[in-house]
Amino acid sequence: MTASGLLAEIGDVGRDPKRGGYSRHAFDAPENDLRAWFSERALGLGLDVDTDHNGNIWAWWGPPGPDAVVTGSHLDSVPGGGAFDGPLGVVSALAAVENLRDKGFRPAKPFAVVVFAEEEGGRFGVPCLGSRLLTGTIDADKARGLRDADGVTFAEAAARSGFDPALIGPDPERLGLVGKFLELHVEQGRGLIDLGAPVAVGSTVIAHGRWRFSFEGQGNHAGATLLADRADPMLPAAATVTAVRRLAAGVPDARATVGRLVPTPGGTNVIASTVDLWLDARVPGTATPALVEDITRVAEAAAKEEGCRVTVTRESYSDDVVFDDTLRRDLGGWLGTPPELPTGAGHDAAILAGFVPAGMLYVRNPTGISHSPEEFAESDDVEAGAAALATVLERLAR
Ligand code: GLV
Ligand code: MN
Ligand code: MN
Ligand code: MN
Repeated sequence: MTASGLLAEIGDVGRDPKRGGYSRHAFDAPENDLRAWFSERALGLGLDVDTDHNGNIWAWWGPPGPDAVVTGSHLDSVPGGGAFDGPLGVVSALAAVENLRDKGFRPAKPFAVVVFAEEEGGRFGVPCLGSRLLTGTIDADKARGLRDADGVTFAEAAARSGFDPALIGPDPERLGLVGKFLELHVEQGRGLIDLGAPVAVGSTVIAHGRWRFSFEGQGNHAGATLLADRADPMLPAAATVTAVRRLAAGVPDARATVGRLVPTPGGTNVIASTVDLWLDARVPGTATPALVEDITRVAEAAAKEEGCRVTVTRESYSDDVVFDDTLRRDLGGWLGTPPELPTGAGHDAAILAGFVPAGMLYVRNPTGISHSPEEFAESDDVEAGAAALATVLERLAR
């Protein structure tokens, strides 16, 4: 089966008619369907499938063991996301295994395809949750207590999906098997369009994090409350949104976004009692926290002016990552020196990179758009990516 053929098989799973694109969130019905589909496909290729303590699925080609060559990505999406972010790396891995197997290759090293849980943080708020738990880069109790929009905790969701919540946490034994990790991913900007190339090797991931700003005011009647009598948390929230753009524009190469803002209770004729907004801030190097401090100062002043309060909570943060030099050089050599690309997107490979040599391959996205239904990859490029992945996996595992 080709990578495009495999993608087509899951093309109807988790479509979101309201937002467009796909909404597939950790352990929800569509994501569970994709997990089952992956396991079935992997078993069909003769791989042995198991799920770790943290909800990551591993499909082993031959017996598990140390110094394993591991490749994969994720099957969850952002709300209303595209078809490629995540699944492309998973289907390309399956296609690469089939291709290598059919030409008679058998890995000399342990070899696994992995599907990481909750990469987007779309349900529980922390991106790359499965790989952070595997590597112990998030506290297990914090992870267990993360809540989705309905108040369900990660521990409860895990229990409902058949995992023991008590076992959620660092998994040094499993991590100790990983010798090298490789993730293929659709490109999320226009780097490869500009370079005129179908595939690139990843170079760096910029530092990034998420902060929650909770504004508290006085819920009240939209008609009966005079303007002078209001403590409307929407005002400091709005001032914060505009400050995010203004302040980020003054920091070289910064990206800062408010993509989610929730007024409670959320009625047209109701002054909100609280407004929560989430800041996604990313600056190369060490400048992200300082930018967030500047934004926080504006939020505090605006809250005070309106008679409101604001609480700022850091939900996640990751430093800059440079992918392993030797692996990058090897990948480039084996693939005929494709271009190297930095990215502003976060990935499980960047979490793993703190522990094992890790690398990435990107596949051209002709729209340059991602985290949107318009994300795309031409099937020729998809196949070029899967072929490149097979080439490097063969080299790494022989
Ligand atoms: C995940 O895709 C992210 O970079 O937000
Ligand atoms: Mn994504
Ligand atoms: Mn992704
Ligand atoms: Mn990502």
